[in-house]
Amino acid sequence: MKILIVGNGARESAIALKLSADHRISKMYFAKGNATTAKLGQNVYEDSVAGLRDFAINERIDLTIVGPEAPLVEGIVDEFKAHNLKIFGPRKRTAELEGSKAFSKKFMQTNNIKTAKAVVFDAYQEAMDYVKTQKFPIVIKASGLAGGKGVVIADDLTEAESTIHRFMIERIYGDAGIQLVIEEYLRGFEASIIAFANGKKLFPCIPVKDYKKAGTGDKGPNTGGMGSVAPSPEFTDAHYKDFEDHILAPTLAGLNAANIHFKGFIFFGLMVTNEGTYLLEYNMRLGDPETQVLLALLENELFDVIMDCLEGRDIELKFKDEKAVCLVMCSGGYPHRIETGFEVRNLNQVKHSQVLFAGAKNVGDKVLTTGGRVLSVVATGDSYEEARKKVYEDALSIKFDYGFYREDIGKF
Ligand code: AMP
Ligand code: GLY
Repeated sequence: MKILIVGNGARESAIALKLSADHRISKMYFAKGNATTAKLGQNVYEDSVAGLRDFAINERIDLTIVGPEAPLVEGIVDEFKAHNLKIFGPRKRTAELEGSKAFSKKFMQTNNIKTAKAVVFDAYQEAMDYVKTQKFPIVIKASGLAGGKGVVIADDLTEAESTIHRFMIERIYGDAGIQLVIEEYLRGFEASIIAFANGKKLFPCIPVKDYKKAGTGDKGPNTGGMGSVAPSPEFTDAHYKDFEDHILAPTLAGLNAANIHFKGFIFFGLMVTNEGTYLLEYNMRLGDPETQVLLALLENELFDVIMDCLEGRDIELKFKDEKAVCLVMCSGGYPHRIETGFEVRNLNQVKHSQVLFAGAKNVGDKVLTTGGRVLSVVATGDSYEEARKKVYEDALSIKFDYGFYREDIGKF
């Protein structure tokens, strides 16, 4: 079997590592890949949908797995299917559940899914008039894809008005800000649940805790994710029951009602408040850094569960009865301006963990930084503390100029 994996983060490195142990897979290609995937297969410098389609045809790829949201929203699955290429992921129309927050909010409302109260706006003046009547903080979201930056929690009317202006008039995220979702602020803790979909049913993985803020103690700006822990230590059976009854089941019913029978991943971004579990958003893909800890604990062969889903068979996911911790090491300045090109040193001193590269490439026998999130350090143990110790001991050895990481991942 020849496999193509689209993406270049530590998420894709984790997929690659998991699949690399599977003897049925003869070769893996990565578009565009990174320093880890270059060791496990071949990186290809192609990222247009048409270019990837041609590559998959020419190389006779047996299965394509898509990591990031952009190609899904662009319609890579429709294009591959039109050429009889096997690919795991939702079609363009279904990917809109992530690509358009207006569409997904309407889907949640229509299907009685437990979510924050919200109103969708297409007109600037209506949005401006609306926030004058609201309580603060309030959450303002650009509807389209904005690389995780299109959500602002406005603390007062001035901030709300300037945000609406920047999104709708200045268009700081381009067309992503043509429509806004303005919603009630929910106070609580977050959890991520990712499910496999086989076209008929959804099969959830264990809940994960993702650390979104850049700084230790949950300080500073939002990022793509600074670390993760599985299973989430905060998400109880009662929270899960609430999720099953008021989010998972009505989502499946809503998909069926809309005649959507996709095969791929669906990611539920949850907020747990005193009133229970609420859905903040769907992502139609695996999360990063959630994948790093989930795959460290997944007992099934990833290839089997994906193929079973593609063929419409039910799956039974099994996770090790252990804890996994993932620490993300970043370039100085992330998530804002960063400098790259620094050597990642002392990798041979890593003893207990798996190092999965993201923004890093091989140059000769060196690894150089290329992005904001440089690498993930992942370990498992019988307790959070054991996994956490392994990760932090190894992180202490790994060096690159101006690198930083949070000190409190997996600390409760
Ligand atoms: P989203 O892309 O919709 O998940 O929003 C990104 C982040 O903004 C979430 O992970 C939360 O930290 C925060 N957020 C989004 N919606 C809300 C809300 N209604 N109340 C509080 N925080 C929110
Ligand atoms: N960690 C959240 C995401 O992948 O969107």
